Amino acid sequence: MAEQTLVLIKPDGLKKSLTGNILTRLSEAKLEIMAAKVVCVTRELASEHYCHMQAKPFFEELINYLMGNLHDRRKVLALVYHGDNAISLVRGICGGTNPETADPTSIRGAYGRITTKGLFENIIHASSALEEAEREIKLWFKPEELVYRIYPVKTEEKVTKTLVWA
Ligand code: PPS
Repeated sequence: MAEQTLVLIKPDGLKKSLTGNILTRLSEAKLEIMAAKVVCVTRELASEHYCHMQAKPFFEELINYLMGNLHDRRKVLALVYHGDNAISLVRGICGGTNPETADPTSIRGAYGRITTKGLFENIIHASSALEEAEREIKLWFKPEELVYRIYPVKTEEKVTKTLVWA
């Protein structure tokens, strides 16, 4: 079944210049990239992304990690991959959530670490299930940023100020 999945290359992945390597590894899945952008992650976006983790003792550290505060690199590369079994294919290439127990040849196993505070710095996020992928993609991307209209859209009248080239 054709699926979509959200991938985030986290600030440590960018700081360690792993982007090209990670994209090459992900290309093994033979999926299509249908959206990509560099995002400066706000506290609000990070908290919403990890909303199901709010009760965890490491929540604050997790938010700081995604915002780039732990690596002095305040950006994330966000991508949407599309294709058959995209969710499990990408999760397989990423490896298990815990970088210490992940397959050592996977992205997380090869490049991740656990901090002295017990936080998994696992380089990459990938959606865990179909509903979660939809929630995450809608959180990180606007409808017009996806090359295919995978979810229903509606039009809304908005009066907003937009930046344009001066
Ligand atoms: S998963 O793999 O997405 O299904 O895992 P989930 O339990 O839903 O999300 C856990 C996210 O929290 C990050 N994290 C940790 N989890 C467990 N224990 C510790 N110590 C820990 N530190 C960080 C974990 O990496 C998951 O985020 P992502 O971005 O998915 O890796």
